[in-house]
Amino acid sequence: MTESHFPIDDILRSRRTSMLVDKTRDVPRELINELCELATWAPNHKRTWPWRFAAITGPAQLRLGDAIADAMSVFGDEPAKVEKARTKYARTPVVMVFGCAVGDSELRTTENRDATAAAVQNFMLAATARGLATYWGSCPKGANDPVAQFCGFDADTTVVCIMYLGWATSTVEAPERPQPSINYLSD
Ligand SMILES: Cc1cc2nc3c(=O)[nH]c(=O)nc-3n(C[C@H](O)[C@H](O)[C@H](O)COP(=O)(O)O)c2cc1C
Repeated sequence: MTESHFPIDDILRSRRTSMLVDKTRDVPRELINELCELATWAPNHKRTWPWRFAAITGPAQLRLGDAIADAMSVFGDEPAKVEKARTKYARTPVVMVFGCAVGDSELRTTENRDATAAAVQNFMLAATARGLATYWGSCPKGANDPVAQFCGFDADTTVVCIMYLGWATSTVEAPERPQPSINYLSD
C-alpha cells in the first residue's frame, strides 16, 4: 500500500448503496443534468457514446412501476413481487434509468454496456460527493423493453441500471472490503 491520499479516495470509499433519503426534498433538474454530464466522461470504445438517461419523478414513478409490474406478471413472477413493483419506484424523489445503445457487432454491444456501467459509476461518485444517496437496481427480468419504451429510448436499448436517487439522510456502515486479489506477472 502506498501512503498517498487523494480527495477522490474518500468519495470512492464513502459511496454506499443506500435508499436512506429525504423523501420530501427534490433533486433539482440542473443537478441531474450536471450528474449526467459528468457520467459522459466515462471511457467508451470507438466513442460510441452509448449511454442513455431518463429521470423519472412524480406520478411517472408509479407509471414506471406499473409498466414493470405488468411485464413481471407476464414473465411469471410471484404476485407479491409484482405488487411490490407497482409502488417501489416511488420510494425516492427521483429514479434514474440508464440505458445502453446496441453496437454494430456483438463485441461493440458488450463494450457499450461496459462503458455505460462506467458512466453509472461516474454518476454515483459525483452524486456521493454532492451529498446524494444512490442505489443501483437491476431491471427485472422481462421488463427491459417496456422500461426502454417508457423512457423514450430506442427499442433495442438495454436497461443497465434503474437507480434510486435522493438527498442522503444518513451514512451507511460499510463492511470490510476483501483485499483485491492481484496476479502480478513479470518476466
Ligand atoms: C450491476 C449491478 C446490479 C445491481 N442490482 C441490484 C439489485 O437489483 N438489487 C439490489 O438490492 N442491489 C443491486 N445492486 C447493488 C449491490 O447489491 C451493492 O452494490 C452491493 O450490495 C455492495 O454494496 P455497496 O454498493 O454499498 O458497496 C447492484 C449492483 C450492480 C453493480
